Amino acid sequence: MPAQTPPETIQCGRMPALTGREIAVPNQAPHAQILGLGVYRPRRVVTNEELCTWIDSSDEWIRSRSGITERRWAEPDETLAAMAVQAASEALADARIAASDVGCVVVATVTHLEQTPSVAALIAHQLGAVNAAAFDISAGCAGFCHAVALGRDMVHGGSAGYVLVIGAERLSEFIDRHDRATAFIFGDGAGAVVIGPAQRPGIGPVVWGADGGQYGVIGQTRDWKAYMDDPTGPRPFIQMSGQQVFRWASYEMAPVANRALQAAGITVNELDAFIPHQANMRIIDTMVKALKLPGDVPVARSIAEMGNTSAASIPLAMEQMRRTGKAPRGGTALLVGFGAGLSYAAQVVTLP
Ligand SMILES: CC(C)(COP(=O)(O)OP(=O)(O)OC[C@H]1O[C@@H](n2cnc3c(N)ncnc32)[C@H](O)[C@@H]1OP(=O)(O)O)[C@@H](O)C(=O)NCCC(=O)NCCS
Repeated sequence: MPAQTPPETIQCGRMPALTGREIAVPNQAPHAQILGLGVYRPRRVVTNEELCTWIDSSDEWIRSRSGITERRWAEPDETLAAMAVQAASEALADARIAASDVGCVVVATVTHLEQTPSVAALIAHQLGAVNAAAFDISAGCAGFCHAVALGRDMVHGGSAGYVLVIGAERLSEFIDRHDRATAFIFGDGAGAVVIGPAQRPGIGPVVWGADGGQYGVIGQTRDWKAYMDDPTGPRPFIQMSGQQVFRWASYEMAPVANRALQAAGITVNELDAFIPHQANMRIIDTMVKALKLPGDVPVARSIAEMGNTSAASIPLAMEQMRRTGKAPRGGTALLVGFGAGLSYAAQVVTLP
């Protein structure tokens, strides 16, 4: 299904007249921007050679079909919350913001293994973000861009002074290590940004959507209810129709990214970095071509060392580009996330 264009303007005033008492609203920040960035990469490196002890594959096949050479898998002490807290602490220090000044913690993840409560509540507590609301969102590999959009609107709308946006995943726990369709793709890690008030726009309008018609394309081998009803069968693992995801991402995400550029009034020639979700090097290459990205615009390619870390992939890639000098602080970057749902979100940001 082609991504739909949102209406240009929202019609107001068609509702019943507001005759009640006037409701006070908080002061709005003129704009929002990303003020700080932090990441956590698990210690353990898992090479393609090691993976091929579980699946019938080869280093050459994995590299040529996905661009992945290695990924990180978390060890027992590197829990989802622990990785997120490390990344968030680094982001707060980078932004020079105290945890107590954070008004909301949003965690994008699909690998928090408790139905309730949110891992965000635990992370906020461990950080000392005592004045923050905290909740998780589930938008697959598009989760980080969704959370950035929420953070921008919260700061701009006045519901939080500073928003901590975290993408964290422990996908190694969710893959069947013997499934050669998925085992080599996914990795673990966490990335975080602090969003706060700004005098100039530092985060462009989001272009986002979901196509539930492709609900089963990335998901679980079976749902938890089926497992509870018959626990003798295998537990649920992640599964996907690789080729279907590949086609959708390769051909439908460049138009979404283009619309995010248009919404921000930025051309591809004005970009200092392109930071797409790290799903497959060939998807990234196809998008670069479709966007007609000039050859001198740096492109995030951290999938080679990190695999696909879902909601954590964009902040991890952003940090790698900043650390290696490929993308400057204050530069203009195009972000596009896409994944389970199938869902997607893209926006232009000023890099922290
Ligand atoms: C998963 C992916 C790398 C597979 O690459 P592909 O080129 O589509 O591979 P196919 O599934 O068409 O399989 C091609 C052949 O390789 C084989 N194959 C599949 N996995 C293999 C593996 N790990 N090692 C070796 N061979 C493999 C298949 O059996 C098939 O063999 P055949 O031609 O003899 O039937 C690719 O589809 C992909 O990256 N999709 C997107 C995944 C993604 O981004 N997911 C997250 C979304 S956010």
